Amino acid sequence: MPRRILITGGAGFAGSNLALHLRAEFPDGKIVALDNLKRRGSELNLPRLAAHGVDFRHGDVRATEDLAAIGPVDILIEASAEPSVHAGQDGSPGYLINSNLAGAINCFDHARLCGADVIFLSSSRVYPIGALNALPLIETGQRLDLPNDARSTGWSTEGISTEFPLTGHRSLYGATKLSAELMLEEYRQSYGVQTVINRFGVLAGPWQMGKVDQGFIALWAARHLFGGELNYLGFGGKGHQVRDVLHIDDMCRIISCQINNIDDLSGRTFNVGGGAGNSLSLAELTAKCRDILGREIPIKPVAETAPVDIPWYVTDNREVTAATGWQPEKNIDQLLGDVFTWLDGHKEQLEPYFAAVPSQKRQNQA
Ligand SMILES: NC(=O)c1ccc[n+]([C@@H]2O[C@H](COP(=O)([O-])OP(=O)(O)OC[C@H]3O[C@@H](n4cnc5c(N)ncnc54)[C@H](O)[C@@H]3O)[C@@H](O)[C@H]2O)c1
Repeated sequence: MPRRILITGGAGFAGSNLALHLRAEFPDGKIVALDNLKRRGSELNLPRLAAHGVDFRHGDVRATEDLAAIGPVDILIEASAEPSVHAGQDGSPGYLINSNLAGAINCFDHARLCGADVIFLSSSRVYPIGALNALPLIETGQRLDLPNDARSTGWSTEGISTEFPLTGHRSLYGATKLSAELMLEEYRQSYGVQTVINRFGVLAGPWQMGKVDQGFIALWAARHLFGGELNYLGFGGKGHQVRDVLHIDDMCRIISCQINNIDDLSGRTFNVGGGAGNSLSLAELTAKCRDILGREIPIKPVAETAPVDIPWYVTDNREVTAATGWQPEKNIDQLLGDVFTWLDGHKEQLEPYFAAVPSQKRQNQA
């Protein structure tokens, strides 16, 4: 059992939920959450962390001295990032590269120095855009899907597996994630750091500070509840692009399973997500929000597709399930129920937050 756990990006959506989950699981351990609070809304998680005895440190993974100040840990979970696939597309990639790549390497080096294990939150966006765009998708009802018997290397109706070819460009964001993965593997080989890499598909749940370019489930639910504008961006503006979605509680369960079995799992890279049974298009999400709230809001179609947009991503979980026994337990209806309960229960805090989220920039499924 790890005595000291460091979660970088620990005030973010994934990091803060994980900190509370691990607090409950390891009540005698020390849990430190390091975060520079760059993500707007992450500051709303600080009272939650404090209330559960998580030690919050305001710090930056780009600064090795901030990591050194934390001292030795047994396990480091790297969950800090600029997590939008649109980051850097405006011509300024500096923060993205320094934080997601150089910062991640600083984390791995801190783990090397103190002999800690590392669990890295990577992304499905390591897979190349061209190859994903080339999938033989067909339109069925309100969504894009693969034909029933279609399959080739790394893809099938079960989803995308780690066998999916990696040749081609993948966005600056995806490239920082894949580069960090490569460096982590070198740290494992050269220094014996034990590692697990999770290429997560879309994560969602309460305390996700959704915005136009990242966190679409929370944004969609908030706009339906509090009002405001939504757009169907790209792919003809129909909202037929598809993602699978993993409930944050299921993400916490797989990471805690990996912490407990790191000796057996070290060196593994998994695709982890909601899976085919938990996939939906934006148009289907709209229908679910409408059914839950009994309210329809206008959604503007914008046909033009941004260069980093992809039409379909579903996670093939078979490898992670075979290795760990884990599979998602919470479906999309439970997820949406939890998100609406959270929004409704924290209306005073969250309505102003979401009202200030601009609607005009890219608003896609990252
Ligand atoms: N949310 C998803 O759908 C999703 C999917 C796949 C992978 N991921 C990955 O999971 C991780 C967590 O994502 P999230 O959804 O919680 O995002 P998030 O933005 O909510 O959390 C990231 C946190 O990192 C902090 N941060 C950013 N730069 C930092 C720096 N230089 N030093 C210290 N802290 C910094 C931010 O303030 C934020 O609190 C990221 O690595 C992301 O790439 C997320």
